[in-house]
Amino acid sequence: MKEVTWKSPSNIALVKYWGKYPVQIPANPSISFTLSAAATTTTLKYAPGTGQIEVYLEGVSTPSFLPKIKTFLERTAEQFPFASTLDLEIHTSNSFPHSSGIASSASGMSALALCLMSVKQALGLPVSDFFQEASEAARLGSGSGSRSVFGPLAAWGTHQDIQGSHDRWAVAYDDVAEVFTTFQDTILLVDKGEKVVSSTVGHGLMEGHAYAEARFAQAHTNQADILTCMRNGDIEGFGAIVESEALTLHAMMMSSRPYFILMKPNTLKVIEAIWAFRENTGNPLYFTLDAGANVHLLYPKSHKDVILQFIDSDLRTFCKDGSYLCDEVGQGPKQL
Ligand code: DP6
Repeated sequence: MKEVTWKSPSNIALVKYWGKYPVQIPANPSISFTLSAAATTTTLKYAPGTGQIEVYLEGVSTPSFLPKIKTFLERTAEQFPFASTLDLEIHTSNSFPHSSGIASSASGMSALALCLMSVKQALGLPVSDFFQEASEAARLGSGSGSRSVFGPLAAWGTHQDIQGSHDRWAVAYDDVAEVFTTFQDTILLVDKGEKVVSSTVGHGLMEGHAYAEARFAQAHTNQADILTCMRNGDIEGFGAIVESEALTLHAMMMSSRPYFILMKPNTLKVIEAIWAFRENTGNPLYFTLDAGANVHLLYPKSHKDVILQFIDSDLRTFCKDGSYLCDEVGQGPKQL
């Protein structure tokens, strides 16, 4: 068998994607920091065949991944028509522990999309914009995966202030003050369990949601405002939008029918401690959340020492087994 390998990072949204139309078209634009340490490495082995697929996670056969991969290959049949004429072996591993509560769908789907783009190229099929096509394919596997293809930031979804922005793929975004290209993201592992409601179900609950229209309009405004803050190096303005986006995301979950809560008591304790720390010390420490209980701490690299000290003394106690992961803004995927 021949093989290709890509390492693709996870990302953390600043303005959140929550709500979509078929197929994988976002209800509003979003923007994220591409991460550096949290990544999926995927080796795709291929040989002429009949579309047989085997998938291995950390070297162990994992047939439970097959339905998602098959859906992905069906949705990308136009981009990768050759996939059904090959036998594929997918070997995937994550830099973060599988049970840590860190979502691997963005990094996993983008790594697989990039591998298939490399196969497409190796087969001599026409490729006009490698990364744009990879982002479009990744989107069909996982919406947020479209953003993992680019660093240091990536924006997905048509927005008036981002040239070339599109609902079908993400674009790289770097028109930001330098401080934002080295921002730190320390992920507090408040809860390591499986999510009670998947993102896919959560997105679906935005259909007919009482606040949907207002929320989608707000995301457009927040996207415009956060770009201005980042361009001007306005960390305080940036932090206010990021925290509001996180709480709005969870407010949407709490006000959908059926309603649900993904935060845990310790998520709130961490948020309160961050606000008190900011008030008392003036340090620029902000939080965001994805669809789970874990808290992402966002702060400039220049404040790393004092904030890591605060995490160890005051926040670590709220983490399962005292565990947290240190990450920072990264440059995007790498072919290995
Ligand atoms: C809360 O990309 O995981 O993390 O498109 O159904 O795979 P699917 O959903 P997914 O949703 C991510 C939601 C979010 C916000 C974000 O990353 O923008």
